[in-house]
Amino acid sequence: MVMPMNFLVLLVLFMISFSCVKAIPTYNVVQLGAKTDGRTDSTKAFLTAWANACSSDQPAVIYVPQGRYLIGNVQFSGKCNNNHIMIRIYGTLVAPSDYNVIGNSGTWIMFESVIGITISGGTLDGQGSSLWACKNAGQNCPTGASTLGFSNSENIVISGLKSLNSQLFHIYINGCQNVNMRGVSIAAASNSPNTDGIHVQLSTGVTIRRATIKTGDDCISIGPGASNLWFEHIICGPGHGISIGSLGKDSQEQGVQNVTVKTVTFIGTQNGFRIKTWGRQSNGFVRGVLFQGATMVNAYNPIVIDQNYCPSQSDCPGKVSGVKINGVTYSNIYGSSASEVAVKFDCSSEYPCSDIRLENVQLTYQNQPAVSSCTNAAGTSYGDVKPSSCL
Ligand SMILES: *[C@@H]1O[C@H](CO)[C@@H](O)[C@H](O)[C@H]1NC(C)=O
Repeated sequence: MVMPMNFLVLLVLFMISFSCVKAIPTYNVVQLGAKTDGRTDSTKAFLTAWANACSSDQPAVIYVPQGRYLIGNVQFSGKCNNNHIMIRIYGTLVAPSDYNVIGNSGTWIMFESVIGITISGGTLDGQGSSLWACKNAGQNCPTGASTLGFSNSENIVISGLKSLNSQLFHIYINGCQNVNMRGVSIAAASNSPNTDGIHVQLSTGVTIRRATIKTGDDCISIGPGASNLWFEHIICGPGHGISIGSLGKDSQEQGVQNVTVKTVTFIGTQNGFRIKTWGRQSNGFVRGVLFQGATMVNAYNPIVIDQNYCPSQSDCPGKVSGVKINGVTYSNIYGSSASEVAVKFDCSSEYPCSDIRLENVQLTYQNQPAVSSCTNAAGTSYGDVKPSSCL
């Protein structure tokens, strides 16, 4: 008997639709043994979930239900068999309260050589306060671990994640391409040492949108070899502001280029927009930077380029920075400075800053005109610029 043609077509259609609706494999950490009490070590369940998701030959989900999960140091490494792993976190991951457990590991939660990872939701609690106390007391303490790190990875999305009380940096991006963060919120005490909010280096194509960052060091810091960055709608403070640098620590170093930072509110920060380089020889550079649209609420140094950074005052012969800074625009920046010098360009005597632009910048100090100061800096000002430009 010959099968009717339309029966065959139906059969094929049925098989196709069946394979399409097949559920995405989902690995629930609780089903893999994690405990929600915040006290039982659940590291193994998370590593098992990762091993399953990473070896899946189709997109996979790691699901973290509500609750608190104590986890130690973890490394989620590629290369995986698929390029779409979604980590949905409804709960809080808690670091060990004894900082010695992860304090020398570099990073608490580390992703290495992965492609196509989305982290959505969740809270990461680094429990850093006892380590900060140790450091602030000048005792001998471990360096601490950064909370979340991505290295040598691409196509990363981080959305709606909260990071609390990291021991060291909250989030860092190193050697990555195409990273999107949105709705990230970060909080640590204003006196917590080295708790940079988000650090980006040796990476290209990094966007950060709608981030709220309160911390003890830079809200966002940009290291060598970062390019094509786009940061928008950032609220920073307390913290040390948004910094490019420190750059030029090494004599051979990749430059920073094509950076846009838009719509930022700085509240009581040490700096607003800062570029900072060591006062020593280097082949590094900074070019093509746009700082556009900021409200300063008592930022101590709202606009600052400091090319004389030399913290221990040694190893900086002649204090001449080799980092070449060219093409930096500050536009539509308003508000108050907590120090009299609201605009400070202190550039390298050997490689003066060039093509610095100020466009509609109005900053006051105690409701009085603030002051600007230029050393080895050239450029132009447009529109209403107060304090009047020294370029
Ligand atoms: C600069 O970076 C943006 C992303 O922030 C990107 O869209 C643009 O193509 C880059 N420009 C160049 C010349 O690479």
